[in-house]
Amino acid sequence: MGVKLIKIGIVYLLIGMSLGVYMGATKDFTLHPVHAHINLLGWTLLGLSGLIFHVFPQLEQNVLAKVYFWLYNLSVPVTLVSLFLFLNGNAAVDPILGLGSVLITVSAACFAWLLLTKLPGANKG
Ligand code: HEM
Ligand code: HEM
Repeated sequence: MGVKLIKIGIVYLLIGMSLGVYMGATKDFTLHPVHAHINLLGWTLLGLSGLIFHVFPQLEQNVLAKVYFWLYNLSVPVTLVSLFLFLNGNAAVDPILGLGSVLITVSAACFAWLLLTKLPGANKG
């Protein structure tokens, strides 16, 4: 699972950087929150969680690892596309943006629970 997360993350980096180059070239920075979150939610968080799953493979045995993997990887692209549309004037996607943000946070909470309770020595204080 760790390697899969890292591979998905690096694709986000290329998309995020391409958007950054586009913004710099056109001097239109309207989409800077999309750019920032493609890079941060995409590359930074997926890459970091991928490294953590690689170093601590026992975390994968918990069902919450699968919940994190699928919920995060479904809700992040839906939310980023909604943010893109929202910033292009499609206010109707606001509820999807809100729901997506909550689902990303729920998936992050699953990951947090794994780190807080399942890492070696996690229950020793
Ligand atoms: C080829 C690489 C990149 C280019 C050309 C690029 C370009 C840009 C541009 C033009 C902006 C808008 C600045 C503005 O609104 O004044 C921006 C904002 C931002 N970028 Fe990038 N970027 C790149 C890579 C990255 C990466 C890898 C990350 C994070 C891992 C990142 C994080 C951010 C963040 C957080 C902002 C928002 C900053 C703010 O709102 O003040 N960027 N970037
Ligand atoms: C559910 C997840 C998240 C939500 C709903 C969220 C939401 C937001 C919102 C509403 C803003 C203000 C945008 C603006 O003023 O234009 C923002 C800015 C920012 N967020 Fe997030 N965020 C999330 C996750 C993250 C994560 C995980 C990071 C870093 C690893 C991050 C880094 C930033 C940065 C650097 C900015 C300022 C850059 C900018 O204005 O584009 N966010 N975020």
